[in-house]
Amino acid sequence: MRDVQAVHAFVEKHRRRRQSNKVLHGHPSPTHWLKLDIAMDEVLRTRAHANQEIPKQVNLYVGTPYCLPTEPDRCGFCLFPSEIYTGRRQLDEYLEYLEREGDMFRDHFAGARLASIYFGGGTANLYKADQYARLMDIVRGVFDIPPQIEVTLEGIPQTFSHDKLLAMKQSGMTRISMGVQVLDDELIKASGRKQHADQVFQTLEWCEALGLPASVDLIFGWPKQTIERMVRDLEAIAATGVNHITHYELNVAGRTDFSRNRRDELPSTEENLEMYRIGKAVLEACGYTQVTAYDFERRDADLPSSYLYEELFRRPFQSDENGPIGFDAWGWGYAGISFFFGTPQSPGWAFMNQVRIDDYFRCIREHRFPVMRGFHYAHADLRLHLLFQELQGLAVDRAAYRRFFGLDVVEEHAAVWDAFGDLGWVAVSDDRVSVRGDGVFYLPLLQNALGHDRLRQMRKKQRATTVTVAEPMPVLAAPATPAAPTRV
Ligand SMILES: C[S@@+](CC[C@H](N)C(=O)[O-])C[C@H]1O[C@@H](n2cnc3c(N)ncnc32)[C@H](O)[C@@H]1O
Ligand code: SF4
Repeated sequence: MRDVQAVHAFVEKHRRRRQSNKVLHGHPSPTHWLKLDIAMDEVLRTRAHANQEIPKQVNLYVGTPYCLPTEPDRCGFCLFPSEIYTGRRQLDEYLEYLEREGDMFRDHFAGARLASIYFGGGTANLYKADQYARLMDIVRGVFDIPPQIEVTLEGIPQTFSHDKLLAMKQSGMTRISMGVQVLDDELIKASGRKQHADQVFQTLEWCEALGLPASVDLIFGWPKQTIERMVRDLEAIAATGVNHITHYELNVAGRTDFSRNRRDELPSTEENLEMYRIGKAVLEACGYTQVTAYDFERRDADLPSSYLYEELFRRPFQSDENGPIGFDAWGWGYAGISFFFGTPQSPGWAFMNQVRIDDYFRCIREHRFPVMRGFHYAHADLRLHLLFQELQGLAVDRAAYRRFFGLDVVEEHAAVWDAFGDLGWVAVSDDRVSVRGDGVFYLPLLQNALGHDRLRQMRKKQRATTVTVAEPMPVLAAPATPAAPTRV
C-alpha cells in the first residue's frame, strides 16, 4: 500500500476483528504453498549451492504426531495436525519411520552444523523414559550434536514424571517447554484436557531440582476467562521463578469446538487488547522482559537466553566476523515444516511434510520424501518473510535488511510505517523500525498491511493458473511453535 490514507482505512476496517487469527509467522502462509510433487533433489541441490555462498547451520524441529484424546476433540482449540494416541506401539513404530526419513537426508546433511533442536508435536512427552535416548540417537544418526547445544522438548503437564525428566536430561535434552494454556480448573475443563495445576507446579519443581530450564506456554482470551483469572494464572506461574513464559492470544478458527460452540463465551477483541496490556504489565512487574510479541523472559536469570531455537528462527540471515551466516530450519517427521532459505539473490524453498500419519508412513515405505506441498520463494517473498519474523521480535534492523536485500525497508513500505507511526504503534529511527505499545497486539494488522499488495498479486496469479488441491489445506493460524503447521 503506497498511500497513508489507504493504510488508515485498512486499519479501521480490520482492527475490530480477532487479531490472533491473522498472526503471520512468515510469508506467505501455507495456504499459498501450493506446489505439490516437489522435486526434492532440486530443493536439496539449491540448498547445497546456497551453502557455498552463505554457510547455513540447521535449526532442527522433530515432530511427534500423537496426542491424548480429549472431549471435545483436539483440546477444543488446537489447529495443529495430530493423531490420537492409543499406546506405546505407535511411538515405537513412528520412531522407526522417523529414522528412515533421517536416512533419506543423511548424505545431504553430512558435515552440517546443528544450531538447536526442538522436539515438538503433537505431544512429545508421551514417550516412555527409555525412548528419549532413542530419540537423541536417531538425531545422532544424521548429525553430530555439539556439546552445549540447546535441545528442547515440549509436552503437557500430566505426562511429565520425574523418571522421564531425568531420562530427558540424561539423554542430552536441556530445556522443557510445557503447554499449560490455563491453570484454572474450571476453564481447562472446557478443553477436555485432563491436567491439574498441581501437575504444572510439580513438573516445574522437578525441573528445577534436575537443573533443567523450563518455559511455560499460556493462552489468554480463553472462553469465560476474566482478567482476574488471567492475572491469577500469570502470577502463580511467575512465582515459580520459571525464566520464560509465552503468552499467546487464543486463535479461534476452523472446525474446533471453541470456534463452533463457544464463540459467545469468548472475550471481544477490545477485551483481548485489555488482557494483552494487563498481562504484559503483570509479567513486567514480576521481573519479565517482553522479547517478542508473546515471549517474556527473565533477563536477570543466571541462565543465558533460554529460547535460542525461536530466536534463530526469527533471524535466518546474520553476519559474524567471517561474513554472512544463515540458519535453515529442517522439520523432520510428521507435519514438519522446513525452511531452506537459499540466499537473498537466489531464494530457496519452504515445504511441509505429510499431515496424515498413514500418508507419512506410506511415502517412506515407498522410499519417497514424505513431503506434502511447498513454496519456492521469490525475492519479494523472502523479504516479507524475514520482515515478518523480525517484527515478531519487535524491531527490524535497517542495516541488515539493506546488507542482505540492497533495499531500505523504510522506503519500501513508507506509507505503512507512516500510518502505524500516526497511531503510535511503530517508531522509525536511523537504525531500526520498532513496534510500540498496542502495536504489538495489532502486529497481525501491521503484517497484513505490509503483505497486502504482494498477496493480492499472488492470488491473482493463482486464479489464473487453476490449481487442484486434493490434500487438506493447512493455514498458519496459531501463534505457536514456529516449525509446526496448523490447519483447519
Ligand atoms: C504444538 S502446540 C501444543 C503443545 C502441547 N501438545 C500442548 O498441548 O501443550 C504449542 C503451543 O501452541 C499454542 N497454541 C496451540 N493452539 C493455539 C491456538 N489455537 N491459539 C493460541 N495458541 C495456541 C499453545 O500455547 C501450545 O502450548
Ligand atoms: S493442544 Fe497440544 S495436546 Fe491438544 S491437540 Fe493440540 S497438540 Fe495435541
